[in-house]
Order: sequence, then C-alpha cells, then structure tokens
Amino acid sequence: MRSVPLPAVHPEFMLEPLLDGAGRDAIGLGQRREPGLDVRHGTVLTLEDLSVSFDGFKALNALNLYIGVGELRCIIGPNGAGKTTLMDVITGKTRPSAGKAWFGETLDLTRMSEVQIAQAGIGRKFQKPTVFEALTVYQNLELAQHTDKSVWASLRARLSGAQKDRIDEVLRTIRLEAAQQRLAGLLSHGQKQFLEIGMLLMQEPQLLLLDEPVAGMTDAETEFTAELFKGLAGKHSLMVVEHDMGFVGSIADHVTVLHQGSVLAEGSLEQVQADDRVIEVYLGR
Ligand SMILES: Nc1ncnc2c1ncn2[C@@H]1O[C@H](COP(=O)(O)OP(=O)(O)O)[C@@H](O)[C@H]1O
Ligand SMILES: [Mg+2]
Repeated sequence: MRSVPLPAVHPEFMLEPLLDGAGRDAIGLGQRREPGLDVRHGTVLTLEDLSVSFDGFKALNALNLYIGVGELRCIIGPNGAGKTTLMDVITGKTRPSAGKAWFGETLDLTRMSEVQIAQAGIGRKFQKPTVFEALTVYQNLELAQHTDKSVWASLRARLSGAQKDRIDEVLRTIRLEAAQQRLAGLLSHGQKQFLEIGMLLMQEPQLLLLDEPVAGMTDAETEFTAELFKGLAGKHSLMVVEHDMGFVGSIADHVTVLHQGSVLAEGSLEQVQADDRVIEVYLGR
C-alpha cells in the first residue's frame, strides 16, 4: 500500500491529546446518534425494579424511576445513596443484577454497550471536566462532532457549512464565542465544564446525565449553569445529580430523593424538603 504524506501540522498537534481515566468512549464523544428514538408514550427513560449488587451489598435496590421527554430532573440524596451507580447503569458502565432499564420504548439499556448507548443518544458529563487541554475551544467542539476516533483525521477533515453552523450555535449556547480560539487548558474550571457540556451537545443527545455539574463553580458560573440547563430542557431531557440545594431549587420542577438505592420521595423541592422521611435521612434523626 502506498503511504500518503501527512500535511504540515502545527507542532502543537503532533501528539494525540490524551484523556485521563474516562476517555472519549466513556463520555460518548465521537459517537453519532441514530435518529428517531421511540418516545411515543412521552417517557425517555424507564427504570423498573432496578437492582445493582456489589458482593451482596445493594447499591441500587428495586429502584423505579421515569423521566419524561424534555424533563429537567434533579436527583438528590446523601452520600452512598446510589446516585452515581444509577448513572453507571444508564450508561452501560455497570450491569444491573435485576430489573429493567429502557431508553424510549424500544431500547434495552441492559443489553447495550457503553458505545451503543452513547450512539443511541445518552450523553454523560462526569464531575471532572475532560477536555483536550492542548487544543482550542473550537477544535474541541470540532472533534466532538467527528465519528473518527483519530484526532489527526478529525482536525484535517473539512467542515461542512452545517457543521460550522452547529459549532457556532453551541459556542453561543455555552457562551464561549469570545474564547473559541483559546486553548482549553487556559479556561477557568467553570468554562471547561461548559466546554464539555458543549462537546456533549455536538452529539445532540436526547438524554443528558450530569453528575454534580456546579461543584467548584463560582456563583456567577453556577447561575449561568442554571440558565443553560433550563434552556436545554425541552429540547433535551436532563438528569442532574447535585448537592447544591440552592442550585436545585433554581432549576428543577421535579426532584427525586434517593436513599439506600431506592426512591425515598419525589415531587417539587419544597414538597420533598417538607417530607419527614427526607428530613430524617438528611439530618440523621
Ligand atoms: N464498584 C463498587 N464496588 C463496591 N461497592 C460500590 C461500588 N460502587 C459503589 N459502591 C457502593 O455503593 C453505594 C452507592 O454508591 P454511589 O452510587 O457512588 O453513591 P452516591 O453517588 O449516591 O454517593 C455506596 O455504599 C458505595 O460504597
Ligand atoms: Mg456520587
């Protein structure tokens, strides 16, 4: 086979940027979504009798949870309640020992790989931002759009007009237009978080899972995150795990309280905060 010489590339991009730990597959980057999720009953996520056992310990215990199309749901609960495990099951990282997990009406998440689940339209944002620090904001979004795993190939490929429009739209949404040529490594912690959310949005996920998105953010960044999420709801469904009750109160019309792997209470934040069982769990009375 004839080898084709590579075009001249800025030395900065001579090395493939590395992602620590999670990696692109885990967050579903570079995955193309199949169109047409079947949500004819208005439910994007159905979890029934879901259990996860770790050596006999039930991190999730016969959990039932339903997320509506376009809903912005907050999940709260004390440490160890099973919030992260719940996200692990939805994204295929952890297999349930029992129960059902459906995405839309037809996709059985318990039988799909992490990559398949990401392709089907579930995007996950981990606590720690995982952006390519040696690339610009724009290039990070560009990469997130490509199905090709190779950073080299992605950056060499020509963008179509529609792809550029999409990047510009996401830059506006995450308010990083002015910083689009800045190296991601030079962004503030909050801006990195917004960039990673932008990278997820490039995949146009139907369901977005966000684990403690405002941890470590300034008040102004937290406020913007609330606005951002409210703007994304409707077009996407969001499931947000968060400890910051001020933040939860500012975004969620529906809150689920998790405790010992099961749903303890559900309703508005005011309703669940007034629930005696919830008070007991949080105050340890
Ligand atoms: N891989 C694992 N092996 C054993 N126990 C685990 C594992 N992952 C989580 N757990 C346990 O399951 C429970 C729920 O954990 P987690 O889902 O991380 O809770 P939360 O995110 O609500 O703080 C905890 O008691 C935790 O110690
Ligand atoms: Mg957790």
